Amino acid sequence: MRISFANDYSEGCLPEILENLGKTNFEQTGGYGLDSYSKSAIRKIEQLLGAEPEQVDIHFTVGGTQANLIVISHVLKPYAGVLSAPGGHIASHESAAIEATGHKVIVLEADPYSGKLDATTLAAFLQEYWADSEPEHSPFPGMIYFSNATEYGTHYSAQELSAIRDIADEYDLPIFMDGARLGTALVAEPDKLNIKQLLDLVDVFTIGGTKNGALSGEAIVFTNRKQNYADRFRWTLKQRGGMLAKGRLLGIQFNTLFTDDLYFRAARHANRMADLLRTGLKQRNVRFWTETKTNQLFILINPKLKQMLLQEFVFLDWLIPNQQQLIELGLEESDQSYHVVRLVTSWATQEEWIEQFLNRWDDFANL
Ligand SMILES: Cc1ncc(COP(=O)(O)O)c(C=O)c1O
Repeated sequence: MRISFANDYSEGCLPEILENLGKTNFEQTGGYGLDSYSKSAIRKIEQLLGAEPEQVDIHFTVGGTQANLIVISHVLKPYAGVLSAPGGHIASHESAAIEATGHKVIVLEADPYSGKLDATTLAAFLQEYWADSEPEHSPFPGMIYFSNATEYGTHYSAQELSAIRDIADEYDLPIFMDGARLGTALVAEPDKLNIKQLLDLVDVFTIGGTKNGALSGEAIVFTNRKQNYADRFRWTLKQRGGMLAKGRLLGIQFNTLFTDDLYFRAARHANRMADLLRTGLKQRNVRFWTETKTNQLFILINPKLKQMLLQEFVFLDWLIPNQQQLIELGLEESDQSYHVVRLVTSWATQEEWIEQFLNRWDDFANL
């Protein structure tokens, strides 16, 4: 079997989760997220945030795309759209799930290397939108969306988030942070955020379980910072198919993830494995599309070497850089061609896999 660096959801789940699902299997509980495990998981997340129960609203659902479309369609007025970077998951990888709810994803420019939305671009767009004498002829910008960690493996500093927050406040816009990979962003060095800071920085965010050792599941946290965007959220959750009859399955998983620091231990492991791989690749003078500190690495690789490694490992093609990009990456003088591929580590990655990958890299590169 080939070793996979394709993504962080290739395996089942953390053994602690499986064990707790087994232990509680014959217990009878309430349904639809009103069981004691879901309530306990909610309390643990509140404690982690240092928030009082009446301050925040927390819900669970199965997947990331589902969480995004349910949150966005709940918060937006019927005529509003959501602002996103081009690589934002809702703009690039969700099969128009947001548009299917009747809301346009308004795509703003972003740095092609980091994939991050930045405050300057956001401000320029909003200024121009509101300078128009007939702004109502295009969708009302009603929400700011970005992922942290991003789809490019980068993560936001508190400073970058504060700058986006300032613009959002100026235009009275809610911020939704997609945290499908929040764990790896919160333990990434440097610029590590404390989860408590999110109470001030965003209006709603998700805590991804699926990519951090859960069988599946995302927690949705409304911070109710200035406004209660969560009002009647359970109706939208149900209407859009996100409310599980066996909500306990999500409750047990999140209750386990937030016991004994498991969520952060899993994320630290994923990042440590990525660090080992990054260091090994840098020692081999490999170029990176962008500098990341989380569990996703994007590297430039010669197509012949890529094909050889693909015989023994799984990883995904990302893009083929154009001439301009090669120049920007300092490779204009090279007579080689390059592809960019993505390597992802996870809570389940083994150190030996990294060694094997680097050893085979050496074997093939020297052929
Ligand atoms: C940032 C981000 N958001 C949302 C999703 C969607 O999650 P799911 O595949 O569970 O629908 C992904 C999945 O890759 C993601 O990377």
